Amino acid sequence: TKVLGLIANPVKQSKSPILHNKCLQSVGYNAVYLPLLGDNLASFLETYSSPDFSGFSCSLPFKVDAVKCCDEHDPVAKSIGAINTIIRRPDGKLVGYNTDYIGAISAIEDGIGGAGGAGKAIAYGAKEKGARVVVANRTYEKAVSLANAIGGQALRLADLETFRPEEGMILANATSLGMYPNTDGTPISKKALSFYDMVFDAVYAPKVTRLLREAEECGVKVVSGVEMFIRQAIGQFEHFTGGIEAPESLMREIAAKYT
Ligand code: ATR
Repeated sequence: TKVLGLIANPVKQSKSPILHNKCLQSVGYNAVYLPLLGDNLASFLETYSSPDFSGFSCSLPFKVDAVKCCDEHDPVAKSIGAINTIIRRPDGKLVGYNTDYIGAISAIEDGIGGAGGAGKAIAYGAKEKGARVVVANRTYEKAVSLANAIGGQALRLADLETFRPEEGMILANATSLGMYPNTDGTPISKKALSFYDMVFDAVYAPKVTRLLREAEECGVKVVSGVEMFIRQAIGQFEHFTGGIEAPESLMREIAAKYT
């Protein structure tokens, strides 16, 4: 039996374990998937260095650190500068991939959001679609470096309050604000978010974040993070199993039931 694991902090809210375990079982793939609370990614990978650990999902706050912890990188993951999937090859080398941006691409036309690991993938996806991208982040330097990498504009997160989006602009939250256990958090006031045509939240735990609830109250169209969650999981599943097609309809059933 192969062992797969999710490294994240916090980890309790993640639905990846139930999703991957049920899907692995459904295709008869001999592997189990464990939620693992991480502290430091390098020491975590050292701890779980047995060849039986054949792959990891990498989530908040480790996606950016994962780039330097992998021996080899998929070119897209390297361009994004963030990794959410790590595969241990039979020779022991760790290979990093990013399946987040595929999920993001489907929901985003014009984007604005955080500059962490998920933010990088979303910004990259938006840029691929030819969108104008504005990156707002609490740590301004990270917004600047991401904006420079993709040819976008940088803002401080607090400046979102006075920023006025162009028509058709989507607000995409890639910060952890609003995520379990800090469900009161939100990256933007209700007043400022009312200027957007659509709000997308990469956070899917809870399914309806404060940001999405307030957007709905303002009559702004909302897209929950569940779709991005499913699509990134499809990509991960195929990496974990060496190319077995992911059971997408089962994934959708599980996501609908458990998120
Ligand atoms: P992930 O890999 O999932 O994207 P991450 O790289 O740790 O996780 O990114 C978390 C994002 O949430 C960052 O944009 C972070 O802002 P900083 O770059 O300033 O750290 C943002 N974030 C987390 N807690 C926040 C808070 N309390 N206020 C504002 N932004 C916050």
